[in-house]
Amino acid sequence: MEMIPKVRKAVFPAAGLGTRFLPATKAQPKEMLPVVDKPLIQYGVEEALDSGVPNIIIITGRNKSSIEDHFDVSFELENVLESKHKDHLLSVVRKISDMINVSYVRQKEALGLGHAVLRARELIGPEPFAVVLADDVIEAKRPCLRQLIDVHDFFGASVVALMEVPREAVSAYGVVDAEPVEHNGACDKLFRIRSLVEKPNPQDAPSNLAIIGRYVLTPEIFQSIDSIEAGAGGEIQLTDALRHLLRNGPIYGLLFEGTRYDAGDKLGFLKATVEFALGRDDLGGPFREYLKSLEL
Ligand code: G1P
Repeated sequence: MEMIPKVRKAVFPAAGLGTRFLPATKAQPKEMLPVVDKPLIQYGVEEALDSGVPNIIIITGRNKSSIEDHFDVSFELENVLESKHKDHLLSVVRKISDMINVSYVRQKEALGLGHAVLRARELIGPEPFAVVLADDVIEAKRPCLRQLIDVHDFFGASVVALMEVPREAVSAYGVVDAEPVEHNGACDKLFRIRSLVEKPNPQDAPSNLAIIGRYVLTPEIFQSIDSIEAGAGGEIQLTDALRHLLRNGPIYGLLFEGTRYDAGDKLGFLKATVEFALGRDDLGGPFREYLKSLEL
C-alpha cells in the first residue's frame, strides 16, 4: 500500500479586510484582536503546533506587519523584561518567537479564501497541508486540527471540520451534502461529502452541516482552485474548489469534538472572551465573582 504523506505545514489566511469588526480592524488585522491576552492567530498557531504541525505559512495583506512582529523576536522588550527580572513575562514573550517556523506570503488583493490558499502553492509543494482560519477559535481536549489529521492519515483524503448550525444560519457558511460513514466504531461523526455549496440560502441548503475553519487538503486542491471561477460574493471560494476536487476522489467531513467561537463576529468574540477568561487560573475566580454581581 502507498504511504500516506504527513501533514507538516499549515496555511493561515490573514489578508482579509475584517469588515465585520470595524472600526477595530481599520488599521490592525483582525487576527491580532486579543481574546483575553492572546491574539486570535496565536490560538490557531498553538493549535497547529499541538496537532504536530510545525511549519506555519501566513498569507498576509496590507496592514499586517503587526502579525510578523508578533512572531518575531523583540530584543528591546526582552531586554527591558530581563533587566526588571520579569522572568515569567520574558518566557511568555520568548515562547512566541521560539514557537514556530514561519513564512509569509503576500496576497496583494483580497480575492477570496481560495485565492489566499493558492498563494501558498509554491511553499507547500506536492504534500497534504492544513488550513486554519484564525477567527474560528476552537476549544477542544484533542485539538480540532489533530482530529482532522487523524482522519486524513487513515483515508489519505481531504477532510473538513463540520458543525451543525441552525437552518437560518447556514447562509454564513460553506454547507455540505454528505452521508455518514462508519469510523472508529461511530456512525454519526464522519461523513463522506457528496457536494458542497458556499453560503446558500437556507431554503436551498443541502443540510445544516456547516464547514468550520479547519481543513486538511491534498495538494490537488491547487489545480482545482486554479480552474474555478469566482463564486459567492464575487470571490474565489475554497468551497467551490473542494466541489471541483470531488472529481479526484472522496472528501470527508468530521463533526469535531470541541467548542467553536466565531471570534470574527462581535458577539462570538465577546462569548469567547468571557469563556476563556472564566477558564483562566489567574482570572477565572474574580471574573466569575464580578459577573455574578451584575444585575442582569
Ligand atoms: C469561510 C468559508 C466558509 C466557512 C467559514 C467558516 O467563510 O468560506 O465556507 O464555512 O469560513 O468560518 P467566511 O467566514 O470567511 O465568510
